[in-house]
Formats: sequence, C-alpha cells, structure tokens
Amino acid sequence: MLCWPISERANSPTVTAANAALTAQLRELGVAAHEARWIVDEFAPGGDIAGSDAVMQAATRRLNGEPLQYILGHWPFRSLDLDVDPRVLIPRPETEELVSIALLQLARRGVRAPVIVDLGCGSGAIGLALLSELDARGVKGALFAVDLSSDALVVARRNALKNHVSAVSFVQSSWFDDVDSSLRGRIDLIVANPPYISERDFELLDPVLSYEPLGALVSADVELGDGFSDVAHIIAESPGWLSPQGTVIIEHGELQAERARRAAHDAGFGSVCTEMDLNSRERFLVCAHQP
Ligand SMILES: C[S@@+](CC[C@H](N)C(=O)[O-])C[C@H]1O[C@@H](n2cnc3c(N)ncnc32)[C@H](O)[C@@H]1O
Repeated sequence: MLCWPISERANSPTVTAANAALTAQLRELGVAAHEARWIVDEFAPGGDIAGSDAVMQAATRRLNGEPLQYILGHWPFRSLDLDVDPRVLIPRPETEELVSIALLQLARRGVRAPVIVDLGCGSGAIGLALLSELDARGVKGALFAVDLSSDALVVARRNALKNHVSAVSFVQSSWFDDVDSSLRGRIDLIVANPPYISERDFELLDPVLSYEPLGALVSADVELGDGFSDVAHIIAESPGWLSPQGTVIIEHGELQAERARRAAHDAGFGSVCTEMDLNSRERFLVCAHQP
C-alpha cells in the first residue's frame, strides 16, 4: 500500500512536440520527468499555452511535497478514473492486484450475482472496480461500500456516478457494526484494505503520507498497539457474514502475513492462504469457509 513516490505507469501521458517545452521547463525546476508529463497533460493538454500558469502552480505544489494525485484531482485505478482528494487514500497500484485475486475467486467458486462488501472503501477503488469489471463480463453484482468516514463516502459516491457504476449502497459504519444484519451469512465476497500501520511506525515513514487521512493509514489499535487491530477485527468478524461459498480478501502489511493466517485459522476458516503482491511480498490474506 505504501508505494511512494509513484512509479512510471504504463498509461502515463506521453510527451508530444506541443507540450515538450512546458515539460522541459518543469524538469528544470526539479519535477520528475513522468510527473511533469502528467501535470502538463492535465493542465495544458496539447501544450496549450493558456494552461501554463496552472501548470506552474501545480509544479509548485508538487515541489512543496503534495502528492501528484491530489494535485491532478483524479487517478486511474484499473479501468476506472477515480476522483481523489485529501478526504481519501490515494489508491495504490498494489491494490489493483487485490481486484484480480477477487475476480479469480468469484470465477473459481462459480458465484453468480455476487453480494460484495468493500470494508473501508475510501475512494471506492476496490469495490467499484470489481463491480465494473464483473459487469463487463456480464455478471451483475451488488456492492455495499462501507467506510467510517462520511467524507470518504462522499468521494466514493461521486466516483460511482462518474464511472457509471450502479447497484452500490453506501454505508457509514465501523467495519460491520452498522451493516444491515440481513446480510449475515449472505455475503459472497468481503474485500478490505484496512489501516495496518502502527502510530509508532507511521512516525518513521515518508512525511508525504501526512497528506493522506490519518485514519486511512494508521490502525485504531485499541487492542494491540502494533497496527494489526483492524485486520484482526475484520478477520474475526467475517465468518458470520460470509455465504457458504464466500471469500474474504484482506490487504495487510508485508510483515503481517503469518499473523493474518493464524487469525484466520483461529476464526474457523477452512481455507486460508496468502497471495503475493507485484513485488513478491506476502500482502493479501485469502480465506473462505470451503476450500
Ligand atoms: C487504507 S484505506 C483504503 C481505501 C481504499 N479501500 C483503497 O484501497 O484505496 C482504509 C480505509 O478504511 C477506512 N476506515 C478506517 N477505520 C475504519 C473503521 N473502523 N470502519 C470502517 N472504515 C474504516 C478509512 O476511512 C479508509 O477509507
């Protein structure tokens, strides 16, 4: 989750002759090449000189440390273009992998019309991408996008509209606390990328993370004080909400995989494994009642 600074992405804008001069100017000021291309493409598309003031303002914000994604105001996640602002975590490329794992699980288990719960939905990245990609395959899912933060839910709702994803209910809740109890035993897929950093570790991380909501990164840690409380809570609560063929997929810290598997066994899951992220780190707990 904590990938920073952003790396070059396959869908980064390319330099055209028209915007090359502006891009070069930003490079001279010290903006990284790929970020300069994003900024020019956003604020002066086609090298439009009328956008050069906006380009310079954006470059200044970036040089002052603000994340590029908040400056642009939107960011790609899988097939979606998501609005992002300081009310929500910037969706990370690693989290795109969680969506692939989830789609595979649903296909493997032959779930038709899945009921999906995205716990801690933030911008809506995981759940909206899932619903959108299932729809493209002719599968109609229903999504419950849950977050404690009402601010995050405003952004997630806007992203659903922007990306034409319907069949979404937005629920303000601390994890399952206020999720409709009629969903007990009926959820085919629970996905979550909860906060999993301890307060102590957060102090040691890149200060650029302080632009993002603290409650999205740092675990409330009432029980453990080591960043694992929210992951542990979701694992312990999930079995009662899952349908018999349901799957839970949780993104966690790279040093938390073994504990997550142990917690899942303790919670009574019959099938427990860990999937790697793109950097071959153990990052996703996948568990289910049935193998
Ligand atoms: C790491 S962010 C993930 C955002 C998004 N799912 C993503 O992957 O980009 C964690 C999210 O969990 C939410 N959150 C934190 N504590 C929560 C709680 N007790 N109940 C529900 N959501 C919570 C935060 O507001 C934040 O949106």
